[in-house]
Amino acid sequence: MIIKNEFNHEVLEKLKKVDVNINDYYIDSVYRNIKIYIIDDKIIGYIIYDLLIDKIEIVNIFVKEEYRRNNYAYYLLNNIILLAKNSKYQNISLEVSINNQAALNLYQKLGFQKVALRKQYYADKSDAFLMLLKIDTRDILILAIESSCDETSVSIIKNGVEELATSTASQIDIHKKFGGVVPEIASREHVKNITLTLEEALEKAKVKIESVDAIAVTIGPGLVGALLVGIEAAKTLSLIYNKPLIGVNHMMGHIYGNNLAGKIIYPALCLTVSGGHTELIYVDDPYNFYKLGETLDDAVGECYDKVARILELDYPGGPKIDKLAQSGHHSYDLPIPLNDESLNFSYSGLKSAVINLVNKEKQKGNIIIKENLARSFQDIIVESLINKTSLALNRYPVKTLMLAGGVSANSDIRKAFEVLANQKNLNFSCPPLNYCTDNAAMIGAYAYFMYNNNEFLNLEFNAKPALNIF
Ligand code: KG4
Ligand code: ZN
Repeated sequence: MIIKNEFNHEVLEKLKKVDVNINDYYIDSVYRNIKIYIIDDKIIGYIIYDLLIDKIEIVNIFVKEEYRRNNYAYYLLNNIILLAKNSKYQNISLEVSINNQAALNLYQKLGFQKVALRKQYYADKSDAFLMLLKIDTRDILILAIESSCDETSVSIIKNGVEELATSTASQIDIHKKFGGVVPEIASREHVKNITLTLEEALEKAKVKIESVDAIAVTIGPGLVGALLVGIEAAKTLSLIYNKPLIGVNHMMGHIYGNNLAGKIIYPALCLTVSGGHTELIYVDDPYNFYKLGETLDDAVGECYDKVARILELDYPGGPKIDKLAQSGHHSYDLPIPLNDESLNFSYSGLKSAVINLVNKEKQKGNIIIKENLARSFQDIIVESLINKTSLALNRYPVKTLMLAGGVSANSDIRKAFEVLANQKNLNFSCPPLNYCTDNAAMIGAYAYFMYNNNEFLNLEFNAKPALNIF
């Protein structure tokens, strides 16, 4: 099931085959947009709407006969209502035949009200009701908490895009001594820092908890003991202050860190690269996203950190390799991993290739030139990421190319993706460096969309350490 936004002549011709009533008139407006419901590559319904300055007008909604009474019309309309809420359009209007009781019931269920009777509105001279749905355009404040790995972070976010304040306590210096994150130490540090970051964020934002609209928290993926500290804090605040609770997928947070830098233009393709993930995610809108490919073994960040250890660099190794690479030459031969037509990645073989290379050079009595190895390694990483992303761009309609996750701080990856986006005439977005590593602002950014969709949790929910995007 994919909902597409494109409305061109090609799409119009396809619609004509599905709905006999559609004609060229429908594409005849600069404000016109469409969402199409697709199942198994077949169009089963669509909604055409005009995006005006402060309101949305529904032009036509259609579901194929054999798919009716399955809530598809409800789903299509709700998608437009969410669009209106998220972009703060003041109202949505539509016309419906006074004889179409099923449609009238559906619109009323969604909150539409009859505001006028339009006499002889249709070609057969029958009447229509004009119906209106008023959208609540109040500012929404979300208090967000992130504690999935080694940063304790609290943020206050307005309307999913404006960061009022963030307070983050990083544990990197503590874990450095151990060469990686030690889960038990991480949990204890979160316990130490959660109240301090909460107080600091509220103070900086000059906001009282009483005035926020919801409490959001990362529920996974991540370290279970670390996640639980944030979750218990969120549950307690929700209970005391009687605020709805929102459980956010950490990876959706990384993607929506982009929205804090400038609103995402859909559909978008996001390459998420972090210490635990390497994924290509197709984002049609905040509620429709699909994983197109992922790593079959190690994540890019994990590969960086392991190669850094071989080069005897401190944890986290990614930034150190990146820095060394800037003064090195590509002089070592390394294979491009999983260089096939799939949209998946693989980095454990590249790590082994680096180990073998270093051992061989040592046996030969050669000194490893770290800068050159860093340069050679980073070039291969960039090439493999660009290759797979280009394949995905050739297969799916995309308007914005995005990066997300800790590794998206990498200077050469950012440059190469910007070039790729320019070549393909796409918008390019990567989070500012402070939103690349884990932070609560990105959690609040995505929580806003969940708030508008009433995606709330009760107090019984638990951490989901292996939460996935499907
Ligand atoms: O997203 P993140 O902060 O935490 C996870 O959820 O994993 O990502 C951390 C990862 C680490 O593996 C770190 O080495 C890598 O991001 N990283 C980098 C760079 N900065 C951070 N990797 C390559 N180049 C960088 N400049
Ligand atoms: Zn992360």
